[in-house]
Amino acid sequence: MGYQEVYEGWKADPEGFWMEAAKAIDWDEAPQKALFDRGDNMYEWFADAKVNTCWNAVDRHVENGRGEQTAIIYDSPITHTKREISYVELRNRVANLAGALRAKGVEKGDRVIIYMPMIPEALEAMLACARLGAVHSVVFGGFAANELAVRIDDAKPKAIIAASCGLEPGRVVHYKPLLDGAIELSEHKPDFCVIFQREQEVAELIEGRDFNWHGFQYGVEPADCVPVEGNHPAYILYTSGTTGQPKGVIRHTAGQLVALNWTMKNLYNVEPGDVFWAASDVGWVVGHSYICYGPLIGGNTTIVFEGKPVGTPDAGTFWRVISEHKVKSFFTAPTAFRAVKREDPKGEFVKKYDLSCLGQVYLAGERADPDTIVWAQDQLKVPVVDHWWQTETGWAIAANPIGIEELPTKLGSPTVPMPGYEVTILDDEGHPVPANTLGAIAIKLPLPPGTLPTLWNAEERFKKSYLNTFPGYYETGDAGIMDEDGYVSIMARTDDVINVAGHRLSTGAMEEVLASHPDVAECAVIGVTDSLKGQMPMGFLCLNAGTNRPHEDIVKESVKLIREKIGPVAAFKLACVVDRLPKTRSGKILRATMVKIADSEEFKMPATIDDPAILDEIKVALQGLGYAKG
Ligand code: COA
Ligand code: AMP
Repeated sequence: MGYQEVYEGWKADPEGFWMEAAKAIDWDEAPQKALFDRGDNMYEWFADAKVNTCWNAVDRHVENGRGEQTAIIYDSPITHTKREISYVELRNRVANLAGALRAKGVEKGDRVIIYMPMIPEALEAMLACARLGAVHSVVFGGFAANELAVRIDDAKPKAIIAASCGLEPGRVVHYKPLLDGAIELSEHKPDFCVIFQREQEVAELIEGRDFNWHGFQYGVEPADCVPVEGNHPAYILYTSGTTGQPKGVIRHTAGQLVALNWTMKNLYNVEPGDVFWAASDVGWVVGHSYICYGPLIGGNTTIVFEGKPVGTPDAGTFWRVISEHKVKSFFTAPTAFRAVKREDPKGEFVKKYDLSCLGQVYLAGERADPDTIVWAQDQLKVPVVDHWWQTETGWAIAANPIGIEELPTKLGSPTVPMPGYEVTILDDEGHPVPANTLGAIAIKLPLPPGTLPTLWNAEERFKKSYLNTFPGYYETGDAGIMDEDGYVSIMARTDDVINVAGHRLSTGAMEEVLASHPDVAECAVIGVTDSLKGQMPMGFLCLNAGTNRPHEDIVKESVKLIREKIGPVAAFKLACVVDRLPKTRSGKILRATMVKIADSEEFKMPATIDDPAILDEIKVALQGLGYAKG
């Protein structure tokens, strides 16, 4: 069957399609029905089933004779460590950890925050929660204590599992002080913390609150898998929205199992036993779906890579890992390839390795520019698939489903909608537009299994953010086009979200932080085009009347403030002081126009602009930062 047939088959009988896919999952109680309409455009999948994620990701492979197969390969060029964990070892380790968590009171439905770097223990912590039916929320290590505190207050975890430190090239990330700082800042306090001590930095434990990862497992009864309802939340993953308050995306258990399992063969073209590598981080959705759950549910070998595309030690690291561990499908972000290409444009490192194991490469997280795709195709001589998705959807909305059929690629397009997604381009009034016309990208409801059913403790926000603008559709927040062959192209975000090195960030959140500087009266943050990271945040500060401190001091403080409040991942390094911000007559800051000026692009003078002369002042300020040269 080709793509068209599969897609049309889904469209003709969506519930039948997913019930068929559900057969690949081990159920404690099989679903009798696929879709549950909860009214008011809210839907759930497989709600009547009983199932456990950890059983499907780990135990069942042991039961089915794959116990000796490697489940996880840990490869850390930063610590010069390589380690393999088989499925049977993983089962034992996870069962013990789950048993220890249970002995301390963690039960089904309790939340557990996981704050860990790229080490196998991060996956073990996630799976131990899944084993108990506890709801994990993994927080990315590049966030500051304040961001962790916000998540603690929202998720109200019973426990926090953290590592003593993370390792960035040339820098130890002191997780434990960050964790202590976050708990001090948060109103909610966890009952206890579990600390995985890394030899690179052993943290001081707080008596009575903190337990050592190994010590607290001593002598405990291993825990069995707890069957949960199909609509039981598997996890909460916070992602950037318009404001400083992140959105807690929820994933339901059964839908995630069915959908991710379906993608492993049909999209990523791997069979049980094949090695699959997503070079991302467990703190992002790619890490949830394709470092941890997807490949393990599919019985693959997954790679936990603690390193960077360049500098650990060189631009050949990706190729070394692929060749050494026999990776069949490789997933990374375009930024990573741009970083490699910049250091090794001719692919001298590629030539050093035998990459005959590699079948295909996948890119996501940000727009994949044609130059990068062509470079990767030329170097690797395998299909390079750009695919488009979001934290909210948990798996690809549009892709080239190589496991079904390799469709012709069109550069700049992540190809076609996957089964489950009826992608529609709408105008401002919510009417579908003709082919090749730019509009808001929306998805006809219901969304497929494995996508977000709602936001954690924020149903109204869920409706407001995604459902209300276009009744009957999910609003993706992306703008783009669909051509006459059904290929979609993603052009821009329709909100204040920017994408820096494949990391999703909120300019609104950065503005909230900058506004808290005592000398700043008003500010704006925009995302300017960057040849490596795709976009970079840039801040414009208007100072309080009478402030006569040196501007460079205030700029330096603002950069420091964002690092302290949001974290290094914001990559906020560019800011300038201006007298005024360009606004409409009703007071809305013209951020999109500022972006166009910074990127030296043509723009139409907004009809509603209050004072066009301010744009010249902005241009001068941007030129001072090396932008707006055109
Ligand atoms: N923990 C702590 N800090 C982290 C971190 C983590 N897990 N990840 C990144 N940071 C820090 C970096 O050290 C850097 O700090 P610095 O300002 O002190 O240098 C900062 O956050 C910005 O990081 P980043 O934007 O990633 O830039 P970089 O200069 O460190 O690396 C690349 C550049 C291109 C190598 C890197 O961005 C990269 O690998 N990108 C791929 C993106 C990716 O895989 N995204 C996942 C989405 S699918
Ligand atoms: P995140 O939730 O961090 O995965 O970010 C999702 C956003 O990243 C999307 O809404 C898009 O704006 C952008 N994005 C992800 N993948 C792609 C892609 N393949 N092409 C263009 N933009 C993408």
